Amino acid sequence: MTVQIDHALEEIRRFRPSPEFAAQAVADAGLYEAAAADRLGFWADQARSLLTWQKPFTQTLDWSNPPFARWFADGELNVAVNCLDRHVDAGNGDRVAIHWEGEPGDSRSITYAELTQEVKRAANTLTELGIGRGDRVAIYLPMIPEAVVAMLAVARIGAIHSVVFGGFSADSLASRIDDAEASLVITADGGWRKGKVFPLKPVVDEALAKAEGGSVRNVLVVRRGENDVEWTEGRDLWWHDTVAKASPEHEAQAFDAENPLFILYTSGTTGKPKGILHTSGGYLTQTAFTHRNVFDLHPETDVYWCTADVGWITGHSYVVYGPLANGATQVLYEGTPDTPHPGRWWEIVEKYQVSILYTAPTAIRSFMKLGRQIPHDFNLRSLRLLGSVGEPINPEAWIWYRHVIGGGSIPVVDTWWQTETGAIMISALPGVTDLKPGSAQVPIPGITVDILSDDGEKVEGEGGGLLVITDPWPSMLRGIWGDPERFKETYWEKFGDKYFAGDGARRDEDGDIWLLGRVDDVMNVSGHRLSTAEIESSLVAHPWTAEAAVVGASDETTGQAVVAFVILKASQAERVTDVAEAADELRRHVASQIGAIARPRQVFIVNELPKTRSGKIMRRLLRDLAEGRQVGDTTTLADTSVMTAITEQVR
Ligand code: PRX
Repeated sequence: MTVQIDHALEEIRRFRPSPEFAAQAVADAGLYEAAAADRLGFWADQARSLLTWQKPFTQTLDWSNPPFARWFADGELNVAVNCLDRHVDAGNGDRVAIHWEGEPGDSRSITYAELTQEVKRAANTLTELGIGRGDRVAIYLPMIPEAVVAMLAVARIGAIHSVVFGGFSADSLASRIDDAEASLVITADGGWRKGKVFPLKPVVDEALAKAEGGSVRNVLVVRRGENDVEWTEGRDLWWHDTVAKASPEHEAQAFDAENPLFILYTSGTTGKPKGILHTSGGYLTQTAFTHRNVFDLHPETDVYWCTADVGWITGHSYVVYGPLANGATQVLYEGTPDTPHPGRWWEIVEKYQVSILYTAPTAIRSFMKLGRQIPHDFNLRSLRLLGSVGEPINPEAWIWYRHVIGGGSIPVVDTWWQTETGAIMISALPGVTDLKPGSAQVPIPGITVDILSDDGEKVEGEGGGLLVITDPWPSMLRGIWGDPERFKETYWEKFGDKYFAGDGARRDEDGDIWLLGRVDDVMNVSGHRLSTAEIESSLVAHPWTAEAAVVGASDETTGQAVVAFVILKASQAERVTDVAEAADELRRHVASQIGAIARPRQVFIVNELPKTRSGKIMRRLLRDLAEGRQVGDTTTLADTSVMTAITEQVR
């Protein structure tokens, strides 16, 4: 039987947990029963059993001022102590916390005792630099252990980190520094990517020249790339001159559960990224709970690897906070999956005997393209659980993941969540739930969701609707930094006290949830969120551009791809002789303004854009075109001939 037929049959099948897996599973069906019987009591139990509180809480949820939730608010804890010191105190100081693998092949294994000491040193350095509770620290680092150390050191002293993904441009970094009024930036000279050093410190220098607020007093620099950097005396400090020499003694203070932990910027429907704010006790409870139960973590024996960068929420919750709160041993890898060879990831799985792997569908699809021989050259038998996040995983990729990477019989969990939700919200529980390829399946215990029509009616059965979260959850965002109005408008205006996620969804006859993609102007490229408005304003900022429209077109590997339609200014249009070159210039421009992840796959130079009589651009028609489909209904256009003209220009 061919593989394709196998796949087609399995897509409609459910996979029962094997009795062996179920017998050793961390999760059991009792979790659902406990949460259904007493939802708040369930979360309070999790908070008490998974975390160590310096001052126990007596109140679980305060929802007296919706949509501003407070969880465990009268309790006090230190997040870093929960991720570090308590494991050492429990006698697990010698357990490896991080097996770090640099892209050029250098590596370091760091125990919990060592990581704790390093974080204490860094906390002392931050304090010496005048950073205290509530201050904002921007972190712009490659995937090196110091990224984890920096985040935990900031948490340890009650300050707030804002990690900016190392692929973002100087402009993006500057606007994030300004919005949060960061007083310190922690960066590296450079990091390794695709066999080369990419500079980071020079980008920080450029960003600080651009940042208008002037809030940054110091830049702390880790040496990693060994690339040349310029130095601003009095402002710039080397990590090895400061942190490495600081005292390893540090008494951690307890902070209240609602003390802010971090801000993480994410794209919304406007041009300006939103600073999503998360706090301490509730966030750590749900990240620890989901990390333990969704990934079936046995901290004594498992080796866990989440391939996300710490610059994204997945890196925050499932590289740093969840795994370390649970005392897990994990792999941290600096580079790209195909450097120096296409089997690099599988080599790492074999080397460290990785047992739990968490990655994104886009990565799985690109491995599928390369073929099964590459993973087959490595011994992947240590794997016993696979996870997926970031976008819907098509059943074919799910099956490939399970068979080719997982050897055919281990669970695959598809986890739905968002920067805003802080932790996993919808997923199977391995060992408990029958698995169904392509569906994220069911809300985790203690989470309640619904699917509603545009006017708030429940959508039953196969018809699709809008995904809402009906009750507050511990790791929910507490707001948008500096913009409470935008927080209310974006998530709470549509359905009152229910959280509007921005995703379409449907529930099948078994009650399993299928995610249908974003319903707003947010694109999902390789599992990363990008805003059409943000890329449009970047294009319009180019001196040649008169007008621009951006759509997310479906793409075999990246899920969606950015496709732009641009009208050049009349003065420019006459001068442009080579349209391809002009398009390339605009693609480069977006990459330099926002970051390489936002670079459009295609830019089409056109004479007109399809608009309604009220002047709204009809992106739906442009998407049809970008995806090579017959263009849909054009009757609401102000000028129905426009689409014909554009189609001719594009094809
Ligand atoms: O559209 C959903 C999609 O990613 C969005 C959240 O993006 P971000 O905040 O960057 O967080 C990504 C990692 C948690 C969601 O609104 N998404 C995420 N996971 C899934 C998904 N869509 C379908 N299935 C998933 N498992």
